[in-house]
Amino acid sequence: MAQLWGGRFTKETDKLVYNFNASISFDRKFYRQDIEGSKAHVKMLAKQKILTEEEKEQILQGLESILRDVENGTLQITEEYEDIHSFVEANLIDRIGDAGKKLHTGRSRNDQVALDMKLYTRDEIVEMDGLVKKLLDTLLKMMKEHIGTYMPGFTHLQKAQPITLAHHLGAYFEMFKRDRQRLKDIYHRMNYCPLGSGALAGTTYPLDREYTAELMGFDGPTWNSMDSVADRDYVIELLSALSTIMMHLSRFCEEIIIWNTNEYRFVEIDDAYSTGSSIMPQKKNPDIAELVRGKTGRVYGALTSILTTMKGLPLAYNKDMQEDKELTFDAIDTTKGCLALFTGMISTMKFRKDVMENSAKNGFTNATDAADYLVNHGVPFRDAHGIVGRLVLYCIDKNISLDDMSLEEYKAISPVFEDDIYEAISMKTCVEKRQTIGAPSEESMKKVIAINEAYLKEY
Ligand code: ARG
Repeated sequence: MAQLWGGRFTKETDKLVYNFNASISFDRKFYRQDIEGSKAHVKMLAKQKILTEEEKEQILQGLESILRDVENGTLQITEEYEDIHSFVEANLIDRIGDAGKKLHTGRSRNDQVALDMKLYTRDEIVEMDGLVKKLLDTLLKMMKEHIGTYMPGFTHLQKAQPITLAHHLGAYFEMFKRDRQRLKDIYHRMNYCPLGSGALAGTTYPLDREYTAELMGFDGPTWNSMDSVADRDYVIELLSALSTIMMHLSRFCEEIIIWNTNEYRFVEIDDAYSTGSSIMPQKKNPDIAELVRGKTGRVYGALTSILTTMKGLPLAYNKDMQEDKELTFDAIDTTKGCLALFTGMISTMKFRKDVMENSAKNGFTNATDAADYLVNHGVPFRDAHGIVGRLVLYCIDKNISLDDMSLEEYKAISPVFEDDIYEAISMKTCVEKRQTIGAPSEESMKKVIAINEAYLKEY
């Protein structure tokens, strides 16, 4: 058991206590960030003449050799160290001797871990953004292919009005676009460097915090040393953004699961993204969509957990905050996995255009347009609503759609109807007449697709 703080203690820590306290099993994940932070710290210490140039060189080389050996597998990060900070420092001292003992000058693990966590989440935000962008690329491509694929739009999960698949996918495009904006906002808000805040009250050494911040690509140093070591707002914001991404994926998965049922048959999920049943030979289950929907709960759990952990913490650092890591790592890995799999699943999914269009026709999604037809022929809307209601009842009784009624049947309910009613309630007309910004007509969709294409080129 290698501890950095043995001096004040007279007894060995109990093994159970040691294990309970240790974080190496999970904070090993940010060994790269820990070394990156140490390198910046040492460069600054030398610039400020707190370390000599020679000490700096020795430490930098030592840190780089540790990084290299961890990455090529010759140096294992083992449980004999309390945390990743102890691991790096102990190995540095082993390798370069006395100079290594100066690495921690003017630093506490409190500002060090605050830095590591920020560097780690910052890197992950960039990766996450790339995955959401890939999903957006895929969605845009699908939207272009399905401008003329008619389907029912739903409210209350009841068929409502005809839309196109491009329009439906476009709704998700907007959601995931906002998700990217959220990630970007968080990145900018969090991008201030806590290093140099010490345990809580800064240090007595003349540290140049602006310099370390700059070395690591931060927009500047944080402005209050207590806040620096006690702040996990960015973790909460990130978990909230991830929860929203998962919520969007989950809603989409729910729709895919419904569309994939025998009753709907709108889509066929590729074999590679489905599984069979051990007992029922006919089954092809949408497991991946279900798992993404299910894993959403885990990510929400992480958000609730960290909010609860933070709510009673007095300033400044408290060990409770060590709890931020496992759940954040898990939520990040889960969301990344779900994004990648989901993108693969939808890009290989087949849409049954004929089934989708028939479903729209047979669900009276054109009833509003039939009423609008009457309004255009001088019938007040409320009366038109009543007339079309009677048409719908008639069709339900005969088990036919509005398109299947003869003109005589139409006229029997209202003499206003003429031969052009069929054209007026065709799926094509219903969709193409909806030309307001954001509506499903080809013209409106093409405008939005062009805007979104330009957006993806720029960001
Ligand atoms: N493992 C700790 C954490 O994750 C590092 C900071 C330890 N600081 C301390 N004062 N014990 O929060």
